[in-house]
Amino acid sequence: MIQLGPHLTAEGTTLIKTHYTPKQAINDGSLFLMGNGYLGMRGTFMEAKKDAYAGIIVSDTWDNADGKWEELSTVMNGLFADIMWNDASVFTRPWQDFKRTLDLKTGIATREVTLDLDGTQLTVKEEKFASMADRHTLPMKITLTASRAIDLTLIQGIDADVWSLNGTHLKDVSFSEIPGGLAAEATLSNADTHVVVGMKAPLHTIVKKAHAIHSHRAVSLTPDTPVTFEQIMVVTSTNDHPNASQFVQDTLHACPSFDALKEASIQAWETIWRPFNITIEGAKDDHVALMVNTYHALIATPRHKPLPIGARGFSAQSYQGAAFWDQEIYNMPMYLYAEPEVAKNLLLYRYQTLSGAKEKAKKHGFEGAFYAWISGKTGEELCPDFFFKDVLSGRPIRNHFNLWQIHISFDVGFAVLRYVEQHQDHEFMRDYGLEMLSEISRFLASRVAYIPHRERYEIIRVQGPDEYHENVDNNAFTNYQAHYVLKETLRALEQHRDVEGAFLPTAKERTLWEDIAKRLYLPPVNADGLIEQFDGYFDLESIVPAEKVTERLQDPEEYYGYPNGITVFTQCLKQADTIQLFSIHPELFDEKVQKANYAYYEPRTLHFSSLSPTTHALVAARLGLLDEAYKHMKKALFIDLLNTNEAISGGTFIGGMHTANNGASWAVVAEGFAGVAYDHGLVMNPHLPEAWESLTLPLFLDGALRTFKITHTTITRTDDTPGRVTIQINQQTHHLEAQTSVPYTRS
Ligand code: BGC
Repeated sequence: MIQLGPHLTAEGTTLIKTHYTPKQAINDGSLFLMGNGYLGMRGTFMEAKKDAYAGIIVSDTWDNADGKWEELSTVMNGLFADIMWNDASVFTRPWQDFKRTLDLKTGIATREVTLDLDGTQLTVKEEKFASMADRHTLPMKITLTASRAIDLTLIQGIDADVWSLNGTHLKDVSFSEIPGGLAAEATLSNADTHVVVGMKAPLHTIVKKAHAIHSHRAVSLTPDTPVTFEQIMVVTSTNDHPNASQFVQDTLHACPSFDALKEASIQAWETIWRPFNITIEGAKDDHVALMVNTYHALIATPRHKPLPIGARGFSAQSYQGAAFWDQEIYNMPMYLYAEPEVAKNLLLYRYQTLSGAKEKAKKHGFEGAFYAWISGKTGEELCPDFFFKDVLSGRPIRNHFNLWQIHISFDVGFAVLRYVEQHQDHEFMRDYGLEMLSEISRFLASRVAYIPHRERYEIIRVQGPDEYHENVDNNAFTNYQAHYVLKETLRALEQHRDVEGAFLPTAKERTLWEDIAKRLYLPPVNADGLIEQFDGYFDLESIVPAEKVTERLQDPEEYYGYPNGITVFTQCLKQADTIQLFSIHPELFDEKVQKANYAYYEPRTLHFSSLSPTTHALVAARLGLLDEAYKHMKKALFIDLLNTNEAISGGTFIGGMHTANNGASWAVVAEGFAGVAYDHGLVMNPHLPEAWESLTLPLFLDGALRTFKITHTTITRTDDTPGRVTIQINQQTHHLEAQTSVPYTRS
């Protein structure tokens, strides 16, 4: 048994919790989430309703119910069930011997609890999952065992009384009986989308309520004889199946038993896990915590069509089920190394939303593609102008994430370049990449300011990754990233001169782009070896450690950032910014510079974004600062397990799984501790933490999956795929055949 937290352990690949209070429903509902990239069913129990944060969030169901937040909808719950005794739910009795589990390898969740019914012990077990084989299907099995004979009523049905974060999405909900089960249909409040849920279970007395349709079934239990009941839910929307009702009926009709569905899903999960199976030997808690994070990254990633990875996945509606830069910078690397098809799908999503990005640019007086800070289906900007409030005065705060956090466009461009380079997918570059890169460069050219007396281009009035400082000029991360993308775009255009398209730069534009590439201001390394995060940053008040600034809070829920928060006139950062630059562009600065900046910025960083720890862990690991790297990695691995991050900021709910951190945890282990990189071929410079004996890591290379076992002294190829793999280790080239080893010393 591996202890992970209070009442939280793991056995093998199973996460186990043995304590529950209603207060845990929000966080545990996220941690025990079941999902499959199409939907997520919060880890709540069968009898849960809105007040217990029950919710099944389905992809491609964006809707704006409150006039402010466009978010994915929670749909009617077709796995609702309850057990009645003496006209009351048995779950209102005190819970004994509670145990809930989630098998990370198969996505199967269980809850087992014993209830005392005036001397009769009733044990209820529910087992359920979101099928990975058929993404519209959620099967459940209920097992009841009583210590004495007892008569109960089992309720099974569809319940529309579900949690919804911002307004009521389900309009005109109608319930009906269909062959072999029940159905519920609804229209989303503001979108032209129809959602249909079906439930299959043997029907008995049908009871219709305002928010539900139930089948009531009398059940007589005999002592110590388990009885099982199955219930299967199917869901879709008209965005997936124009005739959604028919699809649901047909799927339910053809649906095999719970056990057959379970077997198929287990098989599908095996395939999903194969490329991501990292084994850490010597630190079981790290191993299983990494699995928890990888599991959540996988279930948050749509594979069925080009759609974004939501910043909270399908665990909660917070962050609108939408893509941020998280997708390209945090979630993409694991796919780049292990399953490039998924990386490509994510980029296709950005291609699909190019027109939204162009419209946004136009709306704000720019050219080209200005990607949305918060991007849903169409790429239209979903980030409202006002979302935090000043809790001291009650007044809304105007933040400019949607207008000034322009690095998002360059991050998308960076991901295109990285994918094409690593997988040599020139077809993608020709069909999609060049167009995206050209539009991004066009945006940059219209966004920079030429400063005549300094004879250079600058990028003014932006917000870098450190969101607490808005309206800054020449943010180092933004400028370097923009410069890199522009320079590489010009190179790609040169390489693909035969490609035609209206998106290509005119001769005049090209001259301008070349001039910008030559004269864009890149904040230099100063005499102390430091890069200034933005113009004037070094003149701000220095507070070390950054946490000291929190003494200035008047209210714990105050927003820390722009325009008046406690950090604004200080050097305290929300999250990695200059360090972020090193994490994705280690090639631009030597180790000495990176170390000096790490030493300067880390103590000034609050790490109040879940994005910060993995970035620090990655950079520190590469720099050989192993204690530092391990500390940050631990923090990252346990953000959701221990629920360390605030669920409310400036009055806005921001809870749920931290999907970027989930994906980046995999990347930290691979790119940080295993030192994996791609530089015209595979590079590996491992820096294993002392606590680990070895690390086994699959990587997708030259069209096949290879596996490497890394100890403190050797790298061994443990797969059997014929052919040799070329690796650069400490700048030396090695050719590794299957099942052979090479010694290395830490660089
Ligand atoms: C972070 C952003 C991030 C967003 C979504 C914010 O708290 O500061 O960098 O993109 O969360 O994860």
